[in-house]
Amino acid sequence: MQFFTDDLIADPYPHYQRWRDDQPIWWEESSGQWVLTRNEDVQRVLRDHDCFSSAAMGAGNSPLPLLTDDPPRHTKLRGIVNKAFTTRMLRDLEPAIEEVARDLVGRFPDGELDVVEALTVPFPVIVISRMMGIPEERREDFKRWSDALTGILAGTSLEDRRSEILEMATFFQTLIPERRLTPGDDLLSAVARAEVDGQYLSDAEIVGFNMLLLIAGNETTTNLLGNMLNVLATRPDVWMELRNNPDLIEPAIEETFRFDSPVQFLMRQATEEVEFHNQPVKQGERVMVVMGSANRDSRVIDSPDEFDIGRDKTRHYSLGYGIHFCLGAPLARLEARIAMGVLLERFDLLDPGLVAGKRVPSHLLRGFERLPLRFNRAR
Ligand code: HEM
Repeated sequence: MQFFTDDLIADPYPHYQRWRDDQPIWWEESSGQWVLTRNEDVQRVLRDHDCFSSAAMGAGNSPLPLLTDDPPRHTKLRGIVNKAFTTRMLRDLEPAIEEVARDLVGRFPDGELDVVEALTVPFPVIVISRMMGIPEERREDFKRWSDALTGILAGTSLEDRRSEILEMATFFQTLIPERRLTPGDDLLSAVARAEVDGQYLSDAEIVGFNMLLLIAGNETTTNLLGNMLNVLATRPDVWMELRNNPDLIEPAIEETFRFDSPVQFLMRQATEEVEFHNQPVKQGERVMVVMGSANRDSRVIDSPDEFDIGRDKTRHYSLGYGIHFCLGAPLARLEARIAMGVLLERFDLLDPGLVAGKRVPSHLLRGFERLPLRFNRAR
């Protein structure tokens, strides 16, 4: 059986449901790994980081620290960047993020527009570039580098993407000395000057960290916003509800995470033999846990295929679970809340475009490459 087929990109959810019901574990032939789709199994794997390692996924040469590290190294490294994402720091950033959103939305042309181009791609890139103190004019490069890195996470070889990765590494490498000498109030300076056990991080670690920060939050946040606007374009009732009660924006964002997850799956490697539904998984074998499916498991969620912002508690695994839980989650949530707030304030109705949207051609990252929409202004 195969996971990586074209019709899964168009609409993975009926497939996921079939697998949850009929084959809760199966062997994906093309990539050579087990696929797990039930809520309880996804949680078990992500929770048990001793049995299901992230380190092996980097195969010892991953350019990305943290994401491909296990404790104790993971714990140390995470402490460093964690400081940068404190609630206080984010609160201070809020006005600047809002200014970016207002500026982009203020430039929307009348009539139909591609919201991916006009808002959802530039918005997170500009925000993170400013946080890191790097020139946002290099946006095109960031996008190219980011595609190369996400390709690796999705399973293509490092070799194929070597030139982009090297280019990105060189870019950051050249910035390290100046940020150590004359640090600014930015993330890159914070990482360049961070000490673990009295020592600076190595240049390779600093470069890796910065690559992670630059790419982890861009396409994912782009996809979150695209997936949300895609649903709202066909739900004028929800658009109105959110306009009337902005307190519902946050629950609506969480429901979007659950309903159409920007990251569909994660991979881990078994460190010992384990069993799922009477199927042994041997030590060293890889498992793929599909959060996009776990989020719609009727065993734990009522009417999972309905987009319902009034749920009591929206539980989802779209930002991960356990020790690798998304470090940028507060920033992603803040960006989404601000962007949606600006759009809802300015437009009283959202309609689908006349031209159909185009999904990102990836099984890992679910979002839109192009999403034509019509934002109708309050008269
Ligand atoms: C909607 C937006 C986002 C989504 C859906 C998302 C999703 C995820 C997921 C699923 C993980 C877990 C990976 C794993 O367990 O292997 C993760 C980890 C991570 N994310 Fe995010 N992310 C988003 C935004 C961001 C932002 C804005 C940043 C930072 C600028 C960020 C930085 C990170 C980092 C550094 C990790 C690694 C944490 C660790 O391994 O301890 N993410 N993210």
